[in-house]
Amino acid sequence: MTTILITGGAGFIGSNFTRYILQKYPDYKAVVYDKLTYAGNLDNLKDVAQAYPDRYAFIHGDICDAEKVEETIKAYGVELLVNFAAESHVDRSLFEPGSFIQTDIFGTYVLLEAARKLGVSRMVQVSTDEVYGSIEKGSFKESDPLNPSSPYSASKAGGDLMCLAYYKTWGVPVMITRGSNTFGPYQYPEKVIPLFITNAIDNQPLPLYGDGMNVRDWLYVLDHCEAIDLVLHEGKPGEIYNVGAGNELTNLELTRLILKILRKPESLIRFVEDRPGHDRRYSLDCTKIKALGWQPRHKFEEALEETVRWYVENQWWWRKIKSGQYMEFYRKQYEKRLATGKPFNS
Ligand code: NAD
Ligand code: DAU
Repeated sequence: MTTILITGGAGFIGSNFTRYILQKYPDYKAVVYDKLTYAGNLDNLKDVAQAYPDRYAFIHGDICDAEKVEETIKAYGVELLVNFAAESHVDRSLFEPGSFIQTDIFGTYVLLEAARKLGVSRMVQVSTDEVYGSIEKGSFKESDPLNPSSPYSASKAGGDLMCLAYYKTWGVPVMITRGSNTFGPYQYPEKVIPLFITNAIDNQPLPLYGDGMNVRDWLYVLDHCEAIDLVLHEGKPGEIYNVGAGNELTNLELTRLILKILRKPESLIRFVEDRPGHDRRYSLDCTKIKALGWQPRHKFEEALEETVRWYVENQWWWRKIKSGQYMEFYRKQYEKRLATGKPFNS
């Protein structure tokens, strides 16, 4: 048995990755280590715990807790480590940057130090295209300079640099993936796709920031998982790999598609006050990971339809989330904006 430690595995991409790894590798044991912040949710792994009682374990812990991280690596004989643990929402990083700095930089350092001391065989740091900042034309290569705009992306950039330092200084076998905007089942409904799908199901307004012309490159979560798997097994230590599927859409185009799939009216769209420091466009050159053998296998529109269907059929999952603490965040983030928002005239 090979043991893989999946930090942040109770979140969106991490839980999809855990399910994917256990299905693909019958001789792997997955240990999910997660703090269960507002975004961590054991409901995301309910089916996994049932399907793989002998090959799955959950540890409730913080990646900033060095003692607990080391204890877990030793107790389970961890060989592979994939770090998904992060504060991940740009808008929240504008309210409380401290927790982003703590988890995304300091937490990454704690994992690297444990990997160095205890000799983890290979580690992947799951990073983001946001570390490059915005690009008007063309696409970023892995060798381009970092130019993050938000406390979130600056913290992720700090984590990336720490990984490179640990590789260069001590040879810690760490690879970095920089993925683009990811979507699919189990994504916390603060991110634009699940937020807009669930609001539209309830006939609530969809708050589109600014002029709705910001561009994101959408990646289906299983394609992202396959890329991380490939880099974990075949990537070269110390290297960075961009991961994007080339599905560039303006936020307005994306919103109209979601409404069309749900057969809901465009009158639900509200143009609201923009996100401060809002990056205009992200775009990645993915030649390097394609040369390693990765291709996105899911067509964007089909994957979006599949995702919409998942939220329609799994209301037990998101209705529990969209209450209490979530509604407090929602009011703080959107109440004033929606009151002054403008409708869409198609
Ligand atoms: P998420 O917010 O859904 O999940 C993050 C998980 O990390 C949660 O389960 C949370 O409880 C856990 N966590 C947070 N702080 C922790 C800590 N201190 N110790 C242990 N666990 C902690 O995020 P996601 O969207 O699944 O993103 C996962 C990773 O992928 C992040 O590193 C993010 O930067 C990166 N990423 C995300 C996207 C995207 O579009 N969602 C794209 C590219 C890269
Ligand atoms: O690019 C990868 C990144 O994608 C990841 O590193 C982050 O973890 C992930 O959160 C995501 O960041 P974005 O800021 O791009 O995602 P978000 O879903 O918050 O927003 C997507 C676009 O939609 C962005 O241009 C802002 C816009 N938006 C978002 C929300 C929440 C709106 O117009 N209205 C909204 O209410």
